[in-house]
Amino acid sequence: MMFRINYLGRIVAAPFLIVALLWAADVSTVFDPIGSAAAQTRGEVPGHSVGGSSDSDSWRQIRRGLKGQVSIPNKRAGVMIQSEGESWRAIRNGPVSIYGVWLLGGVVVLLGLFFVLRGRIRIESGFSGKLIERFNSVERFAHWLTASSFVILGLTGLNMLYGRYVIQPWLGRDAFSTLTEWGKYAHDFLGFAFMLGIVMILVIWVRDNIPNRLDLDWLAKGGGLFGHGSHPPAHKFNAGQKIVFWLVILAGGSLSYSGLALIFPFTLEPWSGTFAALNIFGFGLPTDLSPMQEIQLTQLWHSILALIMIAVILAHVYIGSLGMEGAYDAMGSGYVDENWAREHHSLWVDQKSAPEKPPGQAGE
Ligand code: HEM
Repeated sequence: MMFRINYLGRIVAAPFLIVALLWAADVSTVFDPIGSAAAQTRGEVPGHSVGGSSDSDSWRQIRRGLKGQVSIPNKRAGVMIQSEGESWRAIRNGPVSIYGVWLLGGVVVLLGLFFVLRGRIRIESGFSGKLIERFNSVERFAHWLTASSFVILGLTGLNMLYGRYVIQPWLGRDAFSTLTEWGKYAHDFLGFAFMLGIVMILVIWVRDNIPNRLDLDWLAKGGGLFGHGSHPPAHKFNAGQKIVFWLVILAGGSLSYSGLALIFPFTLEPWSGTFAALNIFGFGLPTDLSPMQEIQLTQLWHSILALIMIAVILAHVYIGSLGMEGAYDAMGSGYVDENWAREHHSLWVDQKSAPEKPPGQAGE
């Protein structure tokens, strides 16, 4: 009997003993580590790193860009989450990239159509065989400095916008990354060559690009580009060229300034001041932009201007090479055939071939 009680007692006591041992060793975590941690902290963040509980109102404000206090020199670090970055990325990768493709593709298609329908614009009176100087070496240096830097800036810039969709798939990630890294260096440094180029062409050609009444007549006749036998008179530069010139100076200048603001972030912040000036005309634009918003707007402006400029320059390159017989020589050798010059810049040829006036009798 004694034996039976002892035996029964051990059997009854065994489960209590096991539970007591498990409790002492905290073995429960082995079976359910998450549940037990949750049970331990009752839904609070372990370690009390953010205080007692997760305050959804605070997190919501942080998510919306609330600026806090920081004791380090970089006061911008007071903003933990800059939500406008998402809108910026959506606009850059969305409308800017998509409309950019339509714009550039559209210009290429239009130029192709123009070539098919109009053909190469010939010198209608044929080559005279007599050459006259159109651009001296300084003018050609300024042009090719601007042009060559612009071509590389354009290609490396387009790679930044579209390269991951167009080039990376067939080049592979590693090679594309190396290409883009070197492209970025080229883009940053050649920006200065482009700036020098546009300052040079501004100084050299500004006098010949002042608009006048003759330009309206040239534009009304479409420059004689769309038909045969029409050659509206023009001085050294016709209205179409003046448009290209001012676009290169003004858009190129703004492109350069926005490029500098991107190379040296948080130094030039152009938008608050621009918006304040525009608000005089009732635009109601925000003027308390954060430094990050300034950069995001600058990047969008830089891309949009660059795409517009590339589109116009594609047309310029076409008409200065394939599209018009005899035009390229002006920038190649610096000399053009006299008949070409008479057909496209008759007043300039008249002026050039007129006898020099004695000092004090300068004409118009
Ligand atoms: C890369 C290919 C290019 C070619 C083949 C080319 C060709 C030419 C030619 C032949 C002229 C003289 C036209 C004349 O005698 O009346 C010219 C002028 C000019 N080029 Fe270019 N160009 C190129 C690129 C560029 C680029 C990239 C820019 C600026 C970003 C540029 C800006 C100008 C300007 C401002 C003028 C004077 C105004 C005008 O003629 O439209 N060019 N170019």
